[in-house]
Amino acid sequence: MEKSILITGGAGFIGSHVVRRFVKKYPDYRIVNLDKLTYAGNLGNLRDIEHMPAYVFVRGDIMDGDLVERLFEQYRFDGVIHLAAESHVDRSISNPLEFIQTNIIGTFILLNAAKKAWAGQEDGKLFYHISTDEVYGSLGDTGLFTEQSPYDPRSPYSASKAGSDHLVRAFFHTYGLPVVITNCSNNYGPNQFPEKLIPLCINNIKHSKPLPVYGKGENVRDWLYVEDHAAAIDVVFHRGKAGETYNIGGNNEWKNIDLVRRLCTIMDRELGRAEGSSEKLITFVKDRAGHDLRYAIDASKIRDELGWTPSVHFDEGFAGTVGWYLQNGQWLQEVTSGDYQKYYESQYLRKT
Ligand code: NAD
Ligand code: DAU
Repeated sequence: MEKSILITGGAGFIGSHVVRRFVKKYPDYRIVNLDKLTYAGNLGNLRDIEHMPAYVFVRGDIMDGDLVERLFEQYRFDGVIHLAAESHVDRSISNPLEFIQTNIIGTFILLNAAKKAWAGQEDGKLFYHISTDEVYGSLGDTGLFTEQSPYDPRSPYSASKAGSDHLVRAFFHTYGLPVVITNCSNNYGPNQFPEKLIPLCINNIKHSKPLPVYGKGENVRDWLYVEDHAAAIDVVFHRGKAGETYNIGGNNEWKNIDLVRRLCTIMDRELGRAEGSSEKLITFVKDRAGHDLRYAIDASKIRDELGWTPSVHFDEGFAGTVGWYLQNGQWLQEVTSGDYQKYYESQYLRKT
């Protein structure tokens, strides 16, 4: 094997795209996917590559230090790409403890295992931590987040991600662990769990259910196609400089209400429904507590230093994403049965 890599959270939304990319593009790499399979993890996301000889799936918790150390001993990892996390802001508001545990303590346990396994042999090793633009807080109507923007997290989710970023940098400065961090904007694409805005609205339009838009729908997000994020992760893993941070974004800002309206137009067309029928489902609901107004990324550092830019145009990526969810009704049905219904009721029925 040319390299041995631990990918955490590889059964989730972004992780599954990263695992697929690495397994297919680098058949000489051993890829070990460590995932606890929480409600957000789904091995169905990886059916097409699970038979590949250099791919190994391990069901386990990043909080399990003994397991993580055993995996380091068994597979002699050269790199870690750490995506495992609790990732949904609304859940972090109602149940913050899990976010502190997985995102902060879980990251600490992985860092500690890498430090121990790589002591004195750090050359050629890399601990790559995947983070979010939300650590920078909220922008007003203008400006962009750069790598120098001060941290100002405002939700338990973003605070836990900020805490994990700080720990990763502390391991670089204190122990010389070779680390790199990327902070990315909102991803969209196939396999995203339908608690997040785009797949939630696709699912609700399909079933003619209300589309819950928080507040007035004025909040702005910068959307990036998930495979472009996976491509950026590939570039940073191979060419990023240890100790550095790179911001990743789509240069593609949308107000939530405009995005949802655009989705309604595409869905009417795809489902053969009368123009304007899905828009009637839009329902303004109680705002998210501490709702950040706007995120937008300056991704010039990764462009100038590593040559990465997004390649999928939003029109193409968005229409393709809608098409994927409509063609994969079974996937959507499976992930929205059971516990999802309880989550949906507790999150939304009090709001509408
Ligand atoms: P996701 O919620 O879809 O997937 C998370 C995965 O981590 C799941 O497979 C889950 O089973 C696994 N996991 C959770 N806790 C675990 C634990 N204790 N041990 C092992 N596995 C565990 O998340 P996502 O949207 O794919 O995000 C992946 C990463 O990218 C996260 O770190 C997130 O903060 C970051 N990120 C996400 C976005 C986005 O728009 N989704 C943007 C920027 C950064
Ligand atoms: O910016 C990167 C972040 O993007 C990632 O770090 C997070 O893991 C990811 O979940 C995402 O966070 P957001 O909170 O921006 O994504 P979400 O899809 O939950 O919401 C997008 C916007 O839509 C946000 O302004 C809240 C709003 N919203 C969301 C939901 C679920 C609604 O108006 N209604 C909804 O039902």
